[in-house]
Amino acid sequence: MRNILITSALPYANGPIHLGHLVEYIQTDIWARFQRMRGHTCYYVCADDAHGTPIMLRAQQEGITPEQLIAKVAEEHKADFAGFAVGFDNYYSTHSQENREIAQSIYLALRDAGHIERRIISQLFDPEKQMFLPDRFVKGSCPRCGAEDQYGDNCEVCGATYDASELKNPRSVVSGATPVEKESEHFFFKLADFEQSIRDWIHPKAGEAAHMQPEVVNKMDEWFSAGLQDWDISRDAPYFGFEIPDAPGKYFYVWMDAPMGYMASFKHFCAQKGLNFDDFWGANSQAELYHFIGKDIMRFHTFFWPAVLEGAGYRKPNAVYVHGFLTVNGAKMSKSRGTFIKARTFLDHLNPEYLRYYIAGKLNNRVEDIDLNLEDFVARVNADLVGKVINIGSRCAGFINKRFDNRLADKLPEPQLYQEFADAADSLAQLFENREYSRAVRDIMALADKANQYIDTAQPWVIAKQSERDGELHAVCSQGINLFRVLMAYLKPIIPTTVQKAEEFLNETLQWRSVQSPLLGHTIAKFSHMMQRVEQSNVDALLEASKEDIKTMQESSKPTSGPLATDPIADTIAFEDFAKVDLRIARIVKADHVEGAEKLLQLTLDLGGETRNVFAGIKSAYSPEQLQGKLTVMVANLAPRKMRFGVSEGMVLAAGPGGKDLWILNPDDGAQPGMKVK
Ligand code: MSP
Ligand code: ZN
Repeated sequence: MRNILITSALPYANGPIHLGHLVEYIQTDIWARFQRMRGHTCYYVCADDAHGTPIMLRAQQEGITPEQLIAKVAEEHKADFAGFAVGFDNYYSTHSQENREIAQSIYLALRDAGHIERRIISQLFDPEKQMFLPDRFVKGSCPRCGAEDQYGDNCEVCGATYDASELKNPRSVVSGATPVEKESEHFFFKLADFEQSIRDWIHPKAGEAAHMQPEVVNKMDEWFSAGLQDWDISRDAPYFGFEIPDAPGKYFYVWMDAPMGYMASFKHFCAQKGLNFDDFWGANSQAELYHFIGKDIMRFHTFFWPAVLEGAGYRKPNAVYVHGFLTVNGAKMSKSRGTFIKARTFLDHLNPEYLRYYIAGKLNNRVEDIDLNLEDFVARVNADLVGKVINIGSRCAGFINKRFDNRLADKLPEPQLYQEFADAADSLAQLFENREYSRAVRDIMALADKANQYIDTAQPWVIAKQSERDGELHAVCSQGINLFRVLMAYLKPIIPTTVQKAEEFLNETLQWRSVQSPLLGHTIAKFSHMMQRVEQSNVDALLEASKEDIKTMQESSKPTSGPLATDPIADTIAFEDFAKVDLRIARIVKADHVEGAEKLLQLTLDLGGETRNVFAGIKSAYSPEQLQGKLTVMVANLAPRKMRFGVSEGMVLAAGPGGKDLWILNPDDGAQPGMKVK
């Protein structure tokens, strides 16, 4: 039996879990469930990554303390993960006592061994906010191509990378002030001290199998040849994090204590379960340790983290497993297309098992991006899960339930067919072990096809009409249920909630080895409905709701003053596209509050004879009384949209950064309702 500890990256505590994140948590959770089904001990821990400037500023914006913010977000994250059946053994926070102690003791060990150096550096400082600015909090014009509104680390237009201090016309994203250069002492971790041991770690010893993905090793070799730079691990106050023990006013950079959160979460778990922490993390640990992460955070996990562990006398991971990014309909998740989908919104509209299945069907062990194509998603889930797999059970169960008193036959008619299904266990286990889930899914579905062919040929519904063939009917249906059972066992790591229902039906808890013998002479329960088809209308509703989510998120996260209150101009559209928009003058005849809606007002608009009902997100700026009788401009030919509170028949135009600063367009009095706006 193996002892395994696995982790997924710790999501930041300042935003919601979205479908991109879920690729990782689903990938890891499938692996954990698979290992447990095999009879191994596998602990899966995670936590919220609670520190850093964005979290500090976000809390200020919401008018709460960082502690309040991270407590609130932690609850949301936990509920989202539970919704997708991501079964952590422990979910904790990097802002915990355990993590504070670990961070301090690791730092002191590194310092005492001579791996920390102090140096004065100069950085951009916001004189208004009195804080140093991380690169992402400075914007200005690109020093190379001059493109405006670029972040302090790289230019999205020409791809240049630079120092924030090189930006032309820099300004602080936080206050809009012009930053100044200011010196301060920083603490550096001397990564180069560990060059040899990291090289040894990624390149397996003679006779050992490779454990890091080849693309990851290549990327690391590239970084090695560029030279290992010292790593800046301190930040100046104000900062939300842990203070460095011997340096008041200096804090650990969030990425210093974040991976330690893996340890802290596990330590917290050990205390509850009476496990020995050192068995898993000590320098001589025999347990296996794996980190699952996305490609964007590789360097932190493949250089800094193993070096820190080594320097502080802990064991290093067996491997870091890196996955690619999720795209939706072939493109980066997009807020305007509604494809930036929150976990919660998905749960509001669709069965989470659909996503687990679809993602599994796409995942392999390479660092490739994977695409969620929504049309394909509907087709695949319906064809595979509902059409093939569940169908096998439902085609046979009724007869066993009604005609044979829920009892399976004592013998299978075609034992070699069953054997073929059971024999797939080893090769499928290899695929799961190697994170080749898409191939596993393909092989499982090929078996499902065989099971359906068997039933199509045997035609139990025909046999059922001939009472003298009862024995045959019993045998065929028992065979069908047994094939269904094998498929369910193989799918259990992927769709655990559905398989749990199947287990209730089968009256049995499925382990990986369960399928080595068929269920014979066994009493099953009534077949209950295990999964509905996906409806396109639910997917459409999900996209609509996601567009609404984004509006809410943008309003609450956008600065309401300063230069960044303006959105960058979007891509151009053709004149013909513009000409399609029918803008009309409308008179607001009536404005009402909408019960249960935070941002919306319900407007009754007069278009010169025609009346329209429109929901507008302008409640933060206007009270209903202020609006009644006013003229405004509306998009009159927008297709009606069904919203949670009713149908909206158009859109009124307003401008401004949001919140109180939002103005509906107010044409001069000469305008008449119904007039075209030109
Ligand atoms: N807090 C850090 C991780 C610290 S680990 C010690 C972080 N958080 S994150 O919330 O931005 O991302 C969490 C994980 O989700 C990362 O592994 C990241 O790669 C992954 N993903 C975030 N967006 C993703 C996609 N669109 N697609 C796939 N994975 C994505 O990074
Ligand atoms: Zn540029």
